Amino acid sequence: MPKEQWIDVGAAAELAMKPLQEVALGHKRAALSCLEGRFGAISNVCNHVGGPLGQGKLEGEYVVCPWHYYKFQRTTGEGEPGYEADRVPKHEVKVEKGRVLVSAEPVTKRNKLRHDPHPLEREPEAHDGPPRVLGISTTNMDAGHPRTSTSELLLVDALEHARTELGLETRLLKLHELAFRACEGFYSKSADACTWPCSITQMDPKDQMDQVYEGIVHWADVILVATPIRWGTASSLYHKMVERMNCVQNQITIRDRVLVRDKVAGFIITGGQDNVQAVAGAMLGFFAEIGLVFPPFPYVAHSRGWSAEDMENNVKSVESSEELREGTRALLDRAVELAKRLKQSRLCTPSIPRGGRKAHRERMAESASSRPDSSSDSG
Ligand code: FES
Repeated sequence: MPKEQWIDVGAAAELAMKPLQEVALGHKRAALSCLEGRFGAISNVCNHVGGPLGQGKLEGEYVVCPWHYYKFQRTTGEGEPGYEADRVPKHEVKVEKGRVLVSAEPVTKRNKLRHDPHPLEREPEAHDGPPRVLGISTTNMDAGHPRTSTSELLLVDALEHARTELGLETRLLKLHELAFRACEGFYSKSADACTWPCSITQMDPKDQMDQVYEGIVHWADVILVATPIRWGTASSLYHKMVERMNCVQNQITIRDRVLVRDKVAGFIITGGQDNVQAVAGAMLGFFAEIGLVFPPFPYVAHSRGWSAEDMENNVKSVESSEELREGTRALLDRAVELAKRLKQSRLCTPSIPRGGRKAHRERMAESASSRPDSSSDSG
């Protein structure tokens, strides 16, 4: 290889002190590893969605991507056993006069194994039939020892109304019956590391958050979310779900891709004490951010006030309140009516420029150029 095709990346003694690091090769970068004095260099760009391999860690002979932990052999770039053909380009490395030299260009090509797309990856499609109603109960309880939940009780009643009186298809998801992992903060590493479908969903077939994504993104036209008030905020399971939905919102900001259009949300909020409006405000804020719209008076709430600690009476009061049931059914009616109008007008279907200015131009450009498909070597 001619001399000019080697790049001096530094002193061997110094570089050998770190098992893995990024080194610059002109405008590109490589992941340089050193194990027992032997150097290896592979592309810095992960095959998955472009994670910076040199910022990961070395596990034996494998570089582990810092974003979602794919592994590549540190000198050949091949994937881990069983996935060898899923490989990133490798660079030649040599040590001369105490300096580490890396070939400016890779000497093998990138190869990405074809994976069947995750079922959630399909483009969301508007359906033409009557609105479909999804209820999500976010209260927590031990399924083996169930208790009465006031928010869930009102939700179940509203779904019954949708089925029997409006003749609509309904689904009910109780988060306490789903096993799903908490968000692991991929977004905090890089916006591009927070993928659609969620990286956890793609990696962990046992994770049941896919049912929530399927319901909200692909199936429902109307989504009713029920929560208790816990210390002035929505339930912990509500927050766990919402954190996992960052991937839906993130598609708007980094890809200008709106997954949720022409769908309506309403909320049921009940608590022994107060803070209803703050809880509603946070819920409205989040669901608005992912593209949902709301009927007039988009939530039904109940609270008996600050000094009402007699929770048994709280449950009784909701169970016996025809007014609350009627109010929740009326909320469902308003949401369904709005969903029908949206279906006719497709108000939100035309592109809303950059999600109402949420998508960042620079971020979108950066993200497009960091995808492994878009780089030439790709180094
Ligand atoms: S594992 Fe590398 S980007 Fe996802």
